[in-house]
Amino acid sequence: MQQFWWLIYPYAALTLMVVGSIYRFVHRPITWTSKSSEILEKKWLRVGSLLFHWGMLFVIGGHVMGLLIPLRVYQDLHVSTEMYHSVADILGGLAGLSATIGCAILMLRRMLNHRVRRNSSVGDFVALILLFLVIALGTSQTVIANNVVGPYEYRLTVGPWVRGLILFHPNVSLMAQVPLLLQVHIIISFALFAVSPFTRLVHVWSAPFFYPTRAPIQYRSRFGFRAR
Ligand code: HEM
Repeated sequence: MQQFWWLIYPYAALTLMVVGSIYRFVHRPITWTSKSSEILEKKWLRVGSLLFHWGMLFVIGGHVMGLLIPLRVYQDLHVSTEMYHSVADILGGLAGLSATIGCAILMLRRMLNHRVRRNSSVGDFVALILLFLVIALGTSQTVIANNVVGPYEYRLTVGPWVRGLILFHPNVSLMAQVPLLLQVHIIISFALFAVSPFTRLVHVWSAPFFYPTRAPIQYRSRFGFRAR
């Protein structure tokens, strides 16, 4: 079972993500978008979206610092375990709470506002529900489990496993000792990666770098318009 969850399943999910995204980008370029629902409901979208996206920005930064940077680098920089975990728990906790609350608002808005619900696809709901589960489980580990059970040193297990996965030689045995909450967080993350090409999450790969310099789109009223 360990071989399945920590070797076969992650690579299968990542393969689906890469192949599915390339297929959609090449064959369905017009659908490569996160269709805005702002026109249907604005107030809750603004609150939920800001909390979610700002929280996620810091959560992504935290994942890079905790998983991609080896523990040795922190030791060389004289960052003690206590110092690292205090900062990671406070900043990660705040970012996680912001992302969880934002995601909950966006999910409830899509389910409860009938205009938004009627304009949503199955993929919109699947993406939001999986996102909420992943974020809520990660935040529970950081905010609740780390304070009740004690801080978990994921830089000795999950970190090296993730780096091994990227370099194509993951050490599966490292994941056997990881707390169940964190294991479920990671397993659902890969389900999210696998379904992402079939949802609005494809917009993650399309950062609007050229937006400020692109030609403006002009909107004109159909009535009372006179060409000069
Ligand atoms: C390979 C995939 C992933 C791995 C290995 C991973 C691992 C982790 C780890 C080790 C933690 C820290 C737990 C602690 O504080 O003890 C964490 C927390 C968290 N994760 Fe993930 N995660 C993954 C994907 C994701 C994704 C895709 C999201 C969001 C969509 C996410 C959202 C969160 C959040 C919100 C927290 C709590 C805040 C924080 O500590 O940064 N994770 N995750």
